[in-house]
Amino acid sequence: MLVKRKGITVSRQIMDDQRLHPEATGELTSLLNDLVVAGKIISAEVNMAGLADILGQSGRTNIQGENVQKLDVFANQTIKRRMEQCGHVCVMASEEEDDIIPVLDGYEGNYTIAFDPLDGSTNIDVNVSIGTIFSIHRRISPSGQGNAQDLLQKGTQQVAAGYIIYGSSTVMVYTTGSGVHGFTLDPSVGEFFLSHPDIKIPETSLYYSVNEAYADHWFDSTRNFINYLKRADGGNGPYSLRYIGSLVADFHRNLIKGGIFLYTRDKKSGEKSEGKLRLLYEAAPLALIVEQAGGRAITDDGRRILDIEPKNLHQRVPLIIGSRRDVDLAEKFLRGEM
Ligand code: AHG
Ligand code: MN
Ligand code: MN
Ligand code: MN
Repeated sequence: MLVKRKGITVSRQIMDDQRLHPEATGELTSLLNDLVVAGKIISAEVNMAGLADILGQSGRTNIQGENVQKLDVFANQTIKRRMEQCGHVCVMASEEEDDIIPVLDGYEGNYTIAFDPLDGSTNIDVNVSIGTIFSIHRRISPSGQGNAQDLLQKGTQQVAAGYIIYGSSTVMVYTTGSGVHGFTLDPSVGEFFLSHPDIKIPETSLYYSVNEAYADHWFDSTRNFINYLKRADGGNGPYSLRYIGSLVADFHRNLIKGGIFLYTRDKKSGEKSEGKLRLLYEAAPLALIVEQAGGRAITDDGRRILDIEPKNLHQRVPLIIGSRRDVDLAEKFLRGEM
């Protein structure tokens, strides 16, 4: 086991991860390092947002029906530019793009990347933590420009997943299937240093994250579970509500301190809806991270997020994710066992 010292750089850790896979060619290592550069560029822009003319709306609406913020556009462009010419990606998907995104001809590689360029966009102008979420698969098609099938793979097939959270500091958390590591950006030297080696999510916790504004529309199983957490009789003491409205920030807090995040279907949007969050570039990458850290990620009808076969790029999925014991408990309510 390679010695895990705090203070090593993210590039060194990515290299160490590669050594765990003798068959590795170094392509994924190089891809991740290019993604780190994109993260540094976005972090610099986010941290200057109040001074540069980069706050506010872009005037566009995306395929999700959301007002696209200027920083959404900047982050999206930054990642696309790095990835299309890194030589290791054959096709991309982004929350901010309707269809698949090709790479530069002649630069096709063996991986795909799906990303949420900026998660928590409604929080951009009020200096609340936001982040980039990414999911990487090995291509299925033989060569040349990739296609949608290269992207529409189950979460269990991801070769890497992670996020970069732009908060009080900029932290990159990722997994390549051998544990979860966190790195903090030292802006004075422009380098990510290992700050959270081998992250394990606490088995149980005292925090739940849900938008209580939807309480009147929740299905009974969701409501009963949340009410149970609020009472002291769960044996864990009453849970506290922490809801930032940026999935990446709510998830990161729960990963470090323990907690459970829920964004389920509700009566208002009806059974046919699948909730708000997107499978390919929100739920699946975070599900890989949480399982690697010892937690769980399921839908509100008990399916494992990583087992879901995606049907389209922007497919939504109900998400219950976090500490193992908390998700186990939620599952009992979903099954009507409590
Ligand atoms: P995005 O900003 O990438 O569109 O994602 C927003 C998501 C997620 O970050 C957050 O958990 C959720 O929207 C909040 O939704 P509500 O405002 O409905 O609670
Ligand atoms: Mn959005
Ligand atoms: Mn998002
Ligand atoms: Mn987004």
